[in-house]
Amino acid sequence: MAENLDEKLNEVTVLKNYNIVVLRGDGIGPEIVAEAIKVLDAAGERFGFQFTYDEQLMGGCAIDATGEPLPQQTIDACKQADSVLLGAVGGWKWDTLPGSKRPEAGLLGIRSALGLYANLRPAKIFEPLKSASPIKDSIIGDQLDILVVRELTGGIYFGERGRCEKNGAPAAYDTESYSVPEIERIARVAFDMAMKRGKKLTSVDKANVLESSRLWRETVIRISKEYPEVELNHMYVDNCAMQLVRNPAQFDVIVTSNMFGDILSDEASMISGSIGMLASASLAGSSLGLYEPIHGSAPDIAGQGIANPLATILSVAMMLRYSFDEAEAADAIEAAVDEALRRARTPDIKEDGIPVVSTGEMGDLVAKLTAGE
Ligand code: IPM
Ligand code: MG
Repeated sequence: MAENLDEKLNEVTVLKNYNIVVLRGDGIGPEIVAEAIKVLDAAGERFGFQFTYDEQLMGGCAIDATGEPLPQQTIDACKQADSVLLGAVGGWKWDTLPGSKRPEAGLLGIRSALGLYANLRPAKIFEPLKSASPIKDSIIGDQLDILVVRELTGGIYFGERGRCEKNGAPAAYDTESYSVPEIERIARVAFDMAMKRGKKLTSVDKANVLESSRLWRETVIRISKEYPEVELNHMYVDNCAMQLVRNPAQFDVIVTSNMFGDILSDEASMISGSIGMLASASLAGSSLGLYEPIHGSAPDIAGQGIANPLATILSVAMMLRYSFDEAEAADAIEAAVDEALRRARTPDIKEDGIPVVSTGEMGDLVAKLTAGE
C-alpha cells in the first residue's frame, strides 16, 4: 500500500525533462528566442514536463567570442542534447569575412555535423492573417497548407567550390551533386509526410537542364513505388515558382533540393502573410532536431522590440511534435498563435482595428494562451 503511494508520489513529482541547446545567434535572434522559451515553459507547465536550457554560441556572436562561427563545444553540446533551438545568424558586421569564416558557415556546419538532411518548412495560412497575404483570397481559396521538404545537407551548398580562371579572366564555380542514397532518404521523408497529410507530392527539379535533377527525378519515381497511395507529380523549379503564386492550393507536399528549397520556401512564406510566420524543423531521421524560423537575423530591426517572434514560437511547437512526441502541447501552441493573431499584431502583420504590440508582449500573450489562461 505504502509502496504504491510512494510510486504515485514519484509519478507526480518527477517531471519529464528535455535538454535543449539554445543558440540565440545574432540580430533579432536573442529577442525571438526569449519569447519562444516563455512559450515552451508555459506548455511544459500545463502539460507536465520541463526543460533545461544550455546556451551555446553560433554565428556572429561565436566569431566575436572565439574567432570561429561554430566552436567545437557547440557541436558537442548539440550532439548530446535532446533538441536544438536556434534564433538566426548573420549581420553586416561579418559580411566581409571569407566564406568559411562567416556566420552562415556556422549554420551550414551545424546542419552538416548533426546530419540534419531533412528540412520541413510548412507554409500555412492562419485564418486571421488571410488579409495580410499579398495573394488574393480568390486564389488562396479556403485553406492553404503546403509543406516544403528541403534537402539540407547536400547539393550545391556542400559541393566543391572555388576560384579559377575562364578564358583568361578570373572566375568562380560551385557544383551541384546528389547521390542516389541522398535522394532516396529525402524522398522517403517527403512520401511519409504526404501519407500523413493530403497524399499528394510534387517533386521539384530542373531535369530539362541538369543531370543531377535527372537522377533526382528517376530516384523519386523509383521510391514512389513504395508509396502507391501517394499521387506524385514533377515540376520544373521555374514553373513551381510561378504556380506557387498562380494556384498555391494545388500543393500539398513539395520535395526539392537544398538550393531550390531555400528559394521556394521563402516564396511560399510570403503567401502566408509574412516571413515572420514561418517555422522550420531540420531532422536527421532520429529524434534530435534543430528548430529555427526560416527568416534571417534582420539586423536592421534588432533590439527595437518590433520583431515578430511567431515563427520561432511555431518552431518550438514543431520541436514538441517531432522531437518530443508531445502533440497535444504542440497543438496548444498553434491554437494559441491563432488566437493571439486575433487579439494583437507585431508591426510586420499589423491590421486596422487590431492593437500593435511589441515582440515581448506578443510572446507574453502566446504564453498566456498556451497555459490555457
Ligand atoms: C535558410 C537561410 C540559410 C540557407 C542561410 C542563412 C545560409 O537562407 O535557412 O533558408 O540558405 O539555408
Ligand atoms: Mg533561406
